[in-house]
Amino acid sequence: MVEIKKHDFDKLYWVTLRDGNVRLATKNADPGRKIYTERLVNEGGVEYRTFDPFKSKLGAAIFNKMQNFPFKENSKILYLGAASGTTVSHVSDMVGDKGAIYSVEFSARSLRDLVTVSERRKNILPIHADARFPEEYSMIVPQVDIVYEDVAQPSQAEILDTNVKTFLKDGGYFFLAVKSRSIDVTKEPEVIYKEVIAKLESYGLTVLETVDLEPYEKDHIMIVGKK
Ligand SMILES: C[S@@+](CC[C@H](N)C(=O)[O-])C[C@H]1O[C@@H](n2cnc3c(N)ncnc32)[C@H](O)[C@@H]1O
Repeated sequence: MVEIKKHDFDKLYWVTLRDGNVRLATKNADPGRKIYTERLVNEGGVEYRTFDPFKSKLGAAIFNKMQNFPFKENSKILYLGAASGTTVSHVSDMVGDKGAIYSVEFSARSLRDLVTVSERRKNILPIHADARFPEEYSMIVPQVDIVYEDVAQPSQAEILDTNVKTFLKDGGYFFLAVKSRSIDVTKEPEVIYKEVIAKLESYGLTVLETVDLEPYEKDHIMIVGKK
């Protein structure tokens, strides 16, 4: 018997598998189909997809007790660094048919996979563009509730700032996955995290919390904040 319990956050579930293992999950918006190596679990006529914290930094931040979780039915999200859609697909499960995930990715290879995913999930809008240049997609992307960035680039903070200024509603949330090694391999991660937070604050953004992503991702944190 599989057991399903609602997570404290909207649209998330704890699934206890037959072997007793507990997994985080979202309700599958495209039943019968997987996007990566997640498991599909059926219970009570509903299909759930396990949300792997080793494959998604958002999943890792949830496991590590992130406090702020604004993802809801109908949310509009600008997602920078969508890759082939692992995390995007879980966000797609959460925001429903009237939500939208404007998913920016500059690798043509990853974008091809994302386009395939978006053919069955209409709330994913793949955009082939460079997140450093929001003017490339400002014709397509409206004002959004959340800006989520996971680009693993030295200019992560600057990219967040230009996109937040262009697209995030006042009072909207941002999520920035910081990979310290992408910024400077010679510095201690803690020093880099402080520098990124100071930069965001100098842009006038409010940092609400930081979540270390160990043991799922080494030398990464998730910064959550508000405009
Ligand atoms: C760590 S991966 C993202 C993983 C994804 N967020 C997930 O959880 O499923 C980083 C992605 O950012 C993309 N990227 C890096 N710099 C970018 C930029 N300037 N504009 C758009 N995409 C970028 C890379 O091609 C790569 O696919």
